[in-house]
Amino acid sequence: MKTFTGLLLVSALAFASARLVDLPEPELRTSELYSSGAVHEKIKAAKLATWERKRASGDLDSSRYPALRAPVACNSDGLAIVEEGNANQTFKCNNIDLLDFKSHADLGSVTGRGSSSWGWTSADGREFAAIGQADGTAFAEILPSGELIYLGRLPQQSEPSPWREIRTYKNYVIIGSEAEYHGVQIFDLEKLLKIDAAKPVTFSTTKDLTSLFNDLPIGRTHNIVVHEELDYAVAVGAQPRDSECLAGLIFIDLKDPSNPTSPGCNGSDGYVHDAQCIIYHGPDERYEGRDICYGYNEDTLTIYDVTNKTASSIISRTSYVGASYTHQGWVLDPEWQQYLLLDDELDEDEAAGPAKDGFPVTYIFDITDLENPKQSGFYKSKSYSIDHNQYIYDGLSYQSNYGAGIRVLDVSSIPDDPTGGGIEEIAYFDIYPEDDHLPNGGIIDFVGTWSHYANYPSGNILVNTIERGAFVVKLSQFDGRGRGKNWRKPQS
Ligand SMILES: *[C@@H]1O[C@H](CO)[C@@H](O)[C@H](O)[C@H]1NC(C)=O
Ligand SMILES: *[C@@H]1O[C@H](CO)[C@@H](O)[C@H](O)[C@H]1NC(C)=O
Ligand SMILES: *[C@@H]1O[C@H](CO)[C@@H](O)[C@H](O)[C@H]1NC(C)=O
Repeated sequence: MKTFTGLLLVSALAFASARLVDLPEPELRTSELYSSGAVHEKIKAAKLATWERKRASGDLDSSRYPALRAPVACNSDGLAIVEEGNANQTFKCNNIDLLDFKSHADLGSVTGRGSSSWGWTSADGREFAAIGQADGTAFAEILPSGELIYLGRLPQQSEPSPWREIRTYKNYVIIGSEAEYHGVQIFDLEKLLKIDAAKPVTFSTTKDLTSLFNDLPIGRTHNIVVHEELDYAVAVGAQPRDSECLAGLIFIDLKDPSNPTSPGCNGSDGYVHDAQCIIYHGPDERYEGRDICYGYNEDTLTIYDVTNKTASSIISRTSYVGASYTHQGWVLDPEWQQYLLLDDELDEDEAAGPAKDGFPVTYIFDITDLENPKQSGFYKSKSYSIDHNQYIYDGLSYQSNYGAGIRVLDVSSIPDDPTGGGIEEIAYFDIYPEDDHLPNGGIIDFVGTWSHYANYPSGNILVNTIERGAFVVKLSQFDGRGRGKNWRKPQS
């Protein structure tokens, strides 16, 4: 008995000291802890503490990481060895080759600290990347060979911030940041087409912008979402939480990118952390053709009908076992919206629900009935880390899982098996070797990969990392962009 109590105490202590975020147990938590921002502030504080520790130890000095000289294939031992004998330049991998790497310093940043990223393919097929850093956005071209060519940068608008989020709309890049008085930058990527890479250009934040959207409460926004087909963006998580739109969805009309205006907002479910807004096509006939936003709202999946921006509505709010910090998600198929996948950024740390062993969980939702979504299953990653951003193209979910790097899941079996039993990880590239020696082969912490862009026709994938810089990788089993093995091309 004594030994048993002792063991309990020891494990409780180990558990407590390992926790990044110290909050009441998820079951005891009230929605007030979310709506007040207490949970969000705790995660934010944990991130800042990690990054401060890394800054102090020099890990955020990206100039320590040399540019790659040649591509490195993932070998039959599942390693991409950039420098023989250097554990920090030996990357665990499966079916993904490393094509190029440039540090944030080589990508023109003084501060480093990678965040979001996105991509753009020009009308003549050239592929470009926008790479978030604390002091702005670096622009690069990715050649068909995978070579990453730095072209220049758009500095931050007000002050540097480790949070910078990037999407594209037509040939424009749309950039928001948590920095106060930043606003949303709208910049024409066609300016990159004529740059001579020998002379990278630092653009002006006054003269070179197409426009700056400034109608946010205090200029900050957590994320930016674009609905390309309907010509608008949404600022989500634009604090403060007690401002008029309650940090919910703030619509930004982009029909005239030189004059963005806001037709309205919806703050009825409070803070929105991330969202996907698309025209609905799918089994729920009541909503066919409507403009739907899937909101990832800290403790719930919240689905909005935003067809009328001045009179939008909430269709449903759904939580799930394990909900700790509902972070981001993506529909399985935009042409037939019957399932979506979401990730939770805190369930690993809190050992909540199916994340009780600390391994990341991809939650599967059946949204056949938009008014009553149901969690139909989940996928458990075998790689100890936190799952962060995922985007799904043609039956493959590309996930940026912090210290576990980019992971690619074949999720094309979900329509046949919504429990997730058929999901397979088909490829990965672990850009963060620093945690590989740890007991579970990884770490639950905010390190490594923040985001990636995997929607280039070439199949090249841009991975932006917090510490080092940007990697270009590619799945070895596909010529162009990959697809899931049960992926059925949507009937048009
Ligand atoms: C790898 O990087 C970590 C963190 O920067 C450092 O502590 C460690 O000494 C490095 N290991 C090697 C083999 O260089
Ligand atoms: C949108 O809602 C407003 C407010 O209810 C209404 O006046 C307007 O006619 C609606 N617009 C459309 C296109 O239905
Ligand atoms: C936001 O959604 C709520 C819930 O459906 C609705 O009552 C409210 O009118 C909407 N707000 C706006 C400004 O459209």
